[in-house]
Formats: sequence, structure tokens, C-alpha cells
Amino acid sequence: MFDFDSVIDRRGTGSEKWDKYRGRDILPMWVADMDFRSPPAVIAALRERVEHGVFGYTDSPPGATDAVVEMLARDYGWTVDPAWLVWLPGLVCGLNVTCRAVGEPGDEVLTLVPVYPPFFSAPRNSGRGLVRVPMHGEDNRWTIDFDRLKAAVTARTRLLLLCNPHNPVGRVFDRPELERLAEIAAAADLVVCADEIHCGLVLDPRKRHVPFATISSESAQRSITLLSPSKTFNLAGLGCSFAVIPSEPLRRRFLQAKAGIVPMVNPFGYTAARTAYRECEDWRRELIAYLCGNRDALAEALREMPGRLTMAAVEGTYLAWIDMRRTGIDAPVPFFEEAGVGLQDGREFDGPGFVRLNFGCPRSVLQEALARMRRALSARVRA
Ligand SMILES: Cc1ncc(COP(=O)(O)O)c(C=O)c1O
Repeated sequence: MFDFDSVIDRRGTGSEKWDKYRGRDILPMWVADMDFRSPPAVIAALRERVEHGVFGYTDSPPGATDAVVEMLARDYGWTVDPAWLVWLPGLVCGLNVTCRAVGEPGDEVLTLVPVYPPFFSAPRNSGRGLVRVPMHGEDNRWTIDFDRLKAAVTARTRLLLLCNPHNPVGRVFDRPELERLAEIAAAADLVVCADEIHCGLVLDPRKRHVPFATISSESAQRSITLLSPSKTFNLAGLGCSFAVIPSEPLRRRFLQAKAGIVPMVNPFGYTAARTAYRECEDWRRELIAYLCGNRDALAEALREMPGRLTMAAVEGTYLAWIDMRRTGIDAPVPFFEEAGVGLQDGREFDGPGFVRLNFGCPRSVLQEALARMRRALSARVRA
């Protein structure tokens, strides 16, 4: 019913993803936005908002907070008091505010690696010590190394940054894993900041996203959950996100840390978010089916390529984490750029030897990229 196949020309729109390779024949499959149009209902709602013609300072308009509260109850069985919500113009902003709000300069922040790069920069920006805890990656399945995590806790550890569903390794963490995390956090009295921006993008039908804050009332009290419709509904440029912070003292610290330096959300962001959560479930379901098709086409193509590339099962997100270590190619990003495909270097995520491929694009574009990759690998490595 919805169209994910049309190739929309994003050149000349200031697209970060496409402008990186302006004037070059390189298909961009790096930064995490999709090349699909947003749901028609969102586009219609934005059009209506534009027609109103007045774009002054805007607080959350009627229905926006309700739409979030309803979505969290409907999709995750999470009962959220509207007072717990703090609107934000971006998730990365939320990560940075969190790091400033929790503990003091010199305290330590734990982050599980590999991970989305702002998980490294946010603690540093805030004068906190960054402590990286490597995940366990075996046979392309990534799990939390709980022993290592426990061992990494010191007297100065205050905060754990969690990405779930996980960018880049594609895991949707199971309830028992989150329960163990909650235990460790409780034992060390850590705040857990759960970046759950990809929660609407669970691809594996056997999996369900479990918000960390729903593990127990105790975990809720130590949680800051960061959410946005931006990944699921492809609204990243509209800058509309929010934090859910059940603990009143923690929320107060968060509000204080952001005071005066974080701008308001713009009116289009609110309009898009409200409509996305209320009216676009059918679009989301079709998107998931389409992304599953892309993921499967990608996995099959990798199996048939020379070079013995393998990828982690993508339980959630539209990002594939591809192990290049057996190809013998030391610099995979320039290698694939030369072939006409723009990927992201695993080193940015603290995952050397890997690349990240964004498959949130029309199937024909993905197929073209895979054909280019296959040709380049065939010329370079033996099967
Ligand atoms: C895990 C994660 N958090 C945050 C973001 C970005 O959020 P925002 O654009 O709202 O700052 C991304 C985008 O790729 C992401 O993957």
C-alpha cells in the first residue's frame, strides 16, 4: 500500500548523507536516515501546519504528550506520567545533557562498545571519564559481557549508557539481559541512560523491545530513557525527541543541566511526532516488512560475495554490522568508495575490522550497491 520502492532524488536538499559524496557516483549508505518519504499522514499534517502560517515559540501542542504516553502504553505496556516527559530537539543532545546531569566532572561513565559515536563524545564533552566495556562478539552474535561490566565499575562510576536496540550491532536485548543490567546498576547505584531511539524498528518477529525502565520500579527510578520518532518515521531533520525520567530528583537535575542551552522543539517536530505515533502504525508495519526484505537480500548477497564477509543478525534497526576481517582489506571504507558505495568505518564505533551499512533505501538502490561491492571484491580477493 505504501511506496518504499521509488527512488527519491535527495541531492540539492542539503542531505548530510548524500552531500558527503556530492558530484561523485557513490551510493551513500552511511549516516542513519532512510531514503524513504515519511508517512503520508505526517506529510499531510505538516502541510496543514505550514498553512497556518505562524511559527512562533512553541511548547508541546495539544495531543503531542498524549500521543507519546499512549504509544508507550500501547507498544510497550509502559504507563508513563506526562510529567516525566522532557521534550528535546535531539537525542544526542539528550545524551550530553544526561552526562552533565549525573555525577560530577571526573566521575566515570560506562559505555558498551562497539557503539554509536556520541556515546564516546558525550561523557568527554561533560568532563566525565569514559570507560569502554567491550561486548562479546562471537559468530556474529553480540552480547553484553556482564563480568567485564561488573569489573569496570569503580567508586567513581555514576552512569551507564545503554543503546537498545543497539546501533551498530543490531541486537534487541532480551528481558533477562536487561534484568542483569538492572541488577548491576542497582548494586553500584548507577543511573542508566537508555537510548531507545530505534525501538520502533524491531525486525525479528520473535523479539519485542523492552524499555529498560519497565524492568522494575527500581530500574525506572534510576533510568533516563531517550526516545524519538525520528528513526522509525524518518524525521531526523525535524529534531523532535524526548526523555522519560520517572525520578523527580533526577528529572530536576536533567532540567537544570539543559537550562538555557537547549532550544525548544520546533512546531513541525511536534506535529510530525504526534501524527507519527497516532496515525502511522500501518505505515510502520509495512516499513518493517520492507526492511526485512532488504536485510535478507543483503545477507544473501554477502553470503555469495567473495571475501567471506559476514554480518550480525539484524534483530532491530536498519543498520548492518559487517565483519570484514577475513577479507584482508585494511581500509574497507576507501575500498568500497572506490567501488561506488559509501559505508561507515567500524573504527568510529570502536569496532575496527567492521563496516556499518545502512539498508534503509529502495531495494533497487541496495541491489545496485551490492552489485558494486561484489564486483570490487571479486577483483580484489579470492572467494
Ligand atoms: C542510537 C542513536 N542515538 C541517537 C541518534 C541520533 O539522534 P538525534 O539525531 O536525535 O540526535 C542516532 C542516529 O543515528 C542513533 O543511532
